[in-house]
Amino acid sequence: MSEEFDRKYEEYRDYFNEGLNKVCDELITVPELLGDSMKYSLQLGGKRIRPVLMYAVGDVLGVGREKLTPFACALEFIHTYSLIHDDLPEMDNDDYRRGKPSNHKVYGAANALLAGDGLLNTAYSMLFAECFKGNEYISAAKFICDAAGIYGMIAGQSADILHENDDQPNEDTLDFIYDNKTAKLLVAAVTVPSVLCGGAYYSELKQFGRKLGYLFQLTDDILDASGEFSSLGKTTGKDEEENKLTAVKLYGLDDCRLRVDIVGDDCHRILDGLQGDVEFLHELINFVKARLY
Ligand code: IPE
Ligand code: IPE
Ligand code: MG
Ligand code: MG
Ligand code: MG
Repeated sequence: MSEEFDRKYEEYRDYFNEGLNKVCDELITVPELLGDSMKYSLQLGGKRIRPVLMYAVGDVLGVGREKLTPFACALEFIHTYSLIHDDLPEMDNDDYRRGKPSNHKVYGAANALLAGDGLLNTAYSMLFAECFKGNEYISAAKFICDAAGIYGMIAGQSADILHENDDQPNEDTLDFIYDNKTAKLLVAAVTVPSVLCGGAYYSELKQFGRKLGYLFQLTDDILDASGEFSSLGKTTGKDEEENKLTAVKLYGLDDCRLRVDIVGDDCHRILDGLQGDVEFLHELINFVKARLY
């Protein structure tokens, strides 16, 4: 990746974090513990790849950051809630997230459940508040809700749990899990700017988000099997421990590494169909791949 890419990524991320911090400052609850537990996970950091993607596509399509920030915030709230619930003992049972103890290790499982509920509900409030601005805002808000819901991320998480311990792992099931638990929120990130400007490159961006989501979960699964806690900020070896249906289980590590290149090329090819300056998005594909090296 170029220095220009690093600079731009940081700029998008810092801009987003500023907006998020403002939202967090206003997030004062009774009991205080509820808001504190929500902010704990929101402000642990993370790559912020969904907001970065949204801003980057916004720049390609000429949709300004101010317009996107409430949607980026809602999406990051939803993503963070999904991580809190994902880490719970009854789900993936992960003690660390973003390099720090998971929400339930700090606040207990009951409060962690409620922190997740609070994040999801607040995300919906933010999205509703945008809907007064016009029909395209309603469409963008609904897109995020659907991506996160029972035909999206939640369905993927449900299948992920249901297919733990499958004796005969199957490719269609793996594709369903990847597509829903991971890709749908990335699709939302890249599609919202298009929805807000009347649908420019809508189907190309949807396809791009899907492939990038596949690539993202593929690298996450490879890293779970072969990465280090110090760089990931989460415990490795968990997928095997929980006997998850992952690409590593289905294809083996070597085959997965080959697939990373193939899927990465697919992502690049989709971008080639877009006009405008898509260099940052090309480099972002390489950024996802580079996590492996
Ligand atoms: C983790 O998402 C969950 C997956 C979909 C693999 P990220 O890797 O985006 O997590 P953060 O936000 O950077 O912590
Ligand atoms: C989770 O996938 C995707 C979510 C919707 C949270 P993983 O369970 O592999 O994510 P990590 O590895 O815990 O971040
Ligand atoms: Mg999981
Ligand atoms: Mg997990
Ligand atoms: Mg994982």
